[in-house]
Amino acid sequence: MLLINFKTYPQVLGPKALKLAQKLEAAAKTFPDVETGFAPPDFELAKVADGIDSSIWAQHTDLAEEGQFTGFLAPKDAKEAGAMGTFLNHSEHPLTKEVIKETLELAKGGGLKVLIFAASPQKVAEFRKFNPDYIAYEPAELIGGDTSVTSAKPEIISQAVKESGNIPLLVGAGVHGREDISTALSLGAVGAVVSSAVVKAEKPETVFSNLLSGF
Ligand code: G3P
Repeated sequence: MLLINFKTYPQVLGPKALKLAQKLEAAAKTFPDVETGFAPPDFELAKVADGIDSSIWAQHTDLAEEGQFTGFLAPKDAKEAGAMGTFLNHSEHPLTKEVIKETLELAKGGGLKVLIFAASPQKVAEFRKFNPDYIAYEPAELIGGDTSVTSAKPEIISQAVKESGNIPLLVGAGVHGREDISTALSLGAVGAVVSSAVVKAEKPETVFSNLLSGF
């Protein structure tokens, strides 16, 4: 499984989000056996979901039901907008344990899959108890850099895989090439979450294809 987190890089704001998603979706057709998904910026989610067939993830949702929640991102609305899942607790948007647990329940009740980010194997063990659909191990200090989690922390990935038990584990931070994917898989992860290497690339679809070829 390969998820691309668009974040709010300038390359994906406004109509550029859908254009990137279309390019990536086209590239993914050559690799039908790999599950892919995209997490566009919040304001672009509905448009991207309407414009492509791939799985769409919300980068974050709040502990907000329907009703008087001005400015919050309600999981039910993410679903209505076309998301099939939501990320929670990205290190750029950290949440308390209680909020993670309650938002997960709300999101699952609203028909979304839930992926929780964890910055250490200890956190993986903690979040596993909430029974999310996926956990993604991402060491914050490697995010956005050239050194991948798979080259810097292979033994910690193995530990995270162990702690995640029956919950499928993805890895992220600095992932940029097919060898990162093959290493992640060989350590027991089911895939990766990638952002800058694809989103900021001159030819995002080429980097994306290269990553897909590592599965
Ligand atoms: O959510 C994935 C992200 O945090 C990883 O970022 O730029 O290191 O691929 P990047």
